[in-house]
Amino acid sequence: MRLARIAIFISGSGSNAEKIIEHFQNHESIKVSLLLSNNAEAYGLQRAARYNIATLVFNKVQFRESDEIISVLRAAGITHIVLAGFLWLIPQNLIEAFPNRIINIHPALLPKFGGKGMYGMRVHEAVKAAEESETGITIHEVNAHYDEGKILAQHKCGVEKSDSPEQIAAKVQQLEHQYYPQVIEKWVTTSL
Ligand code: GAR
Repeated sequence: MRLARIAIFISGSGSNAEKIIEHFQNHESIKVSLLLSNNAEAYGLQRAARYNIATLVFNKVQFRESDEIISVLRAAGITHIVLAGFLWLIPQNLIEAFPNRIINIHPALLPKFGGKGMYGMRVHEAVKAAEESETGITIHEVNAHYDEGKILAQHKCGVEKSDSPEQIAAKVQQLEHQYYPQVIEKWVTTSL
């Protein structure tokens, strides 16, 4: 069977990345091969190192103004890219190099609460301010616009009037950790 090799891109804590790494340990046809970050301080780099996953930190010039990252991904035999709390827009050359092979998770029910600048706690604060009765997660393919690719899965949770943005974040994170690894597995498996 063909082996799929995943590269995970992160900018911060990397709790989703860790769940994904754990999920695919010992998987027969899917391997997490590389974790990349635009942020040298991202805690997720340490998480990956604990699992002996190779890591790479890159800057804006390398990412946006060259094919350097594409070369690294190709050299590592990467077949699929997973964004897990990665905050930079994916440049066109990378999208063209991996057509329909890049997936993202967003901590709300898109198309609500998406777009540029909508990440992390800002999303949950906006959900609270809008007095939504539910929120959740959206897992989608990535195209050249923030949060606009084909939706692959959505999962919901309730929002109580008394919930703080932090409490909303905790509920959403639980959904992310529960569902993102299995949605990735299905997505990768059906594309092999
Ligand atoms: C996650 O909640 C993810 O949905 C969000 O960043 C968080 C990363 O957490 N992504 C976005 O907001 C993208 N627009 P983690 O670093 O602990 O996995």
